[in-house]
Amino acid sequence: MNFELTRALYPELEVAPEIGSTNDELAVRASSGSFTDFGILATLSQTSGRGRLDRSWVTPPGKGLAVSVLLSLEDLEAESVNERLGWIALAAGLAMVDAVNGVLSAAGSEPEAKIKWPNDVLIRGSKVCGLLGVLAAEGRAVVIGAGLNLTASREELPVATATSLALNGVEGDAESIADRVLVEYLAALQSGWRALSSGTPEQVEQLKAEVRANCATIGARVRVDLPGGMEVRGIATGLDETGRLQLRESAGGELREIAAGDVTHLRYE
Ligand code: BTN
Repeated sequence: MNFELTRALYPELEVAPEIGSTNDELAVRASSGSFTDFGILATLSQTSGRGRLDRSWVTPPGKGLAVSVLLSLEDLEAESVNERLGWIALAAGLAMVDAVNGVLSAAGSEPEAKIKWPNDVLIRGSKVCGLLGVLAAEGRAVVIGAGLNLTASREELPVATATSLALNGVEGDAESIADRVLVEYLAALQSGWRALSSGTPEQVEQLKAEVRANCATIGARVRVDLPGGMEVRGIATGLDETGRLQLRESAGGELREIAAGDVTHLRYE
């Protein structure tokens, strides 16, 4: 596989013909000392993809892009690690929104991709991409993985709430679409990561503002299924300084901060 556009800017890109999980593979390599900041591993055939909350991530072979990038935390100042960690997946979501909107616009479709907190990218409410960040190398690195539906038909997608770029008017074979998105995604991710890892406070605030402006969850009435099995409902009002979702359960009630959970945007309740 060529990935000509991406390789021209990122010659270190590694493309596997088939692999279990790009996230697992980069995490294993990072732990065994093979550690390149912004190392990139991609495939169009991931056979045991991992999703959030211990779920699996399933894509029909050859029809989805799985890409993981290794980010070294070694240069991050100790006092900013906690604040910035929560924003890495959000910055990756923003990068994917930019990249997806680029190919949608080029295809003559409305650039309507948005972030759904914490780690999804939606096109008009349907999920086109899921992201998953995992700590690696005993906390010295993060692997940020993205799974993007490229050419799957409605029938081939695992759930009715998913969509693909092809279903939104993007034409071409899976590899050419993947190449066009990947080059934009990596450039935007690199710039977001620069801001988070070594940017000035103003640059960090600018990144956070862009994430907030592109987050469809903010302002929506939502249900959040929390990891322990509880659910909460309310209006999502914003993201706090560490990237947690702020939720107001009742008018005039206190703000509650949510670090992890499954969000459903409720339109008609
Ligand atoms: C989710 O929506 O639950 C997150 C899905 C993340 C999938 C990507 S595909 C590339 C990387 N490798 C994996 O095993 N998972 C992530």
